[in-house]
Amino acid sequence: MANVIVGVTGGIAAYKAAELVSLLGKQGHAVRCIMTDAAQQFITPLTLQTLSGNPVYTSMFQMQENPEWQVEHIGLARWADCVLIVPATADFIGKVAHGLADDLLSTCVMATAAPVFFAPAMNDQMYANPLVQRNIDILREAGYGFVDPVEGNLACGTSGKGKMASPERIAAVLETLREQDMKGVRLVVTAGPTREVLDPVRYLTNHSSGKMGYAIARQAANRGADVVLVSGPSSQAVPANVTLVPVQSARDMFEAVKQQYAQADIVIKAAAVADYRPKTVAAQKIKKSDGDMVLELERNPDILAWLGEHKNHQILMGFAAETNDVKQHALGKLQRKHLDFIAANDVTQQHSGFGKDTNQITVYGADGSVHELPVLSKEDAADCLLNLVLEAYQNRKP
Ligand code: CTP
Repeated sequence: MANVIVGVTGGIAAYKAAELVSLLGKQGHAVRCIMTDAAQQFITPLTLQTLSGNPVYTSMFQMQENPEWQVEHIGLARWADCVLIVPATADFIGKVAHGLADDLLSTCVMATAAPVFFAPAMNDQMYANPLVQRNIDILREAGYGFVDPVEGNLACGTSGKGKMASPERIAAVLETLREQDMKGVRLVVTAGPTREVLDPVRYLTNHSSGKMGYAIARQAANRGADVVLVSGPSSQAVPANVTLVPVQSARDMFEAVKQQYAQADIVIKAAAVADYRPKTVAAQKIKKSDGDMVLELERNPDILAWLGEHKNHQILMGFAAETNDVKQHALGKLQRKHLDFIAANDVTQQHSGFGKDTNQITVYGADGSVHELPVLSKEDAADCLLNLVLEAYQNRKP
């Protein structure tokens, strides 16, 4: 997660900066806001302070109020992994393009080594003005990024290109900042529960939400991997740049994974696969009777065990969600299924388990290594798992 400065300049779209700050916070980024004098005519520092959970910076000479930075603009400039100017007025774009630095935001932009992105918002004629366009070109050539405005109704009553990009689009630039250390790596991730049909209206399943598998797929795609996500039914959003193969039953998942296996470099099996399915699937809805009912189940294929048996060059990571004797069960699965790693967690713990946003995982390696991860968000946990499989893949690669 990144340290983001949101620099707000004086345009009506400033109110959308509040939405952006809220969104970035939800995504787990640390946000600090700098406002120009004109920005404060449109929204108040208190709004951004509340949404970011941090003091808002408005003046070069604020050191007494915020003693944490020795020299404010330098401290902020160093802290930032990324600076977003939202909205960027014609005036502010012109100022930076010509090397002017006469307030906190412009000095910070000048002093930072972090990537800076401008999200212009202005009247369409103003945006089309050759002087504004020339300033934008100067900034692009100097390596500054832009999130271009879109066509739409503008506050001045006209319609045209000048409407600021949505907060979601602006936030998406952060995804492009990740180091592309998984470029060229072909990863198959399985996620979610499976559904084993009993009759046309019923099925057997489990509590898996898919969050962990989807987090792995998202982080790997952000790091440049080619990701195929084989997922049972899940309400998670499909991450950008990930190929989704939706499946229902364990047998569907088995077929989909088998198809992907030969081309895969790494397989991570985060899915909670049903070990059994109903022996018969009723064509019609099963009707109740007075007595009890016994359901006969038959074994599903163990997908991971099959992958282990047919392993060639692939790195294999399995999951073990346990309620007791975690280490012993995990090590048993690591050996039995010929895995390179098993990521084990105790689903009875407060921070781990189905539907939670955090996880506490211990990873056991086939080489005897043990990696005890602390309580982490599922995104950060995903990155740690990816670091391990990536290292193993790089070591194995001829
Ligand atoms: N798994 C699988 N196919 C199955 C069952 C499990 O591929 N039919 C995979 C899971 O995706 C997970 C790992 O095997 O990565 C361990 O799953 P888990 O259900 O914990 O283990 P099981 O081998 O089913 O053992 P048990 O049910 O006895 O705990």
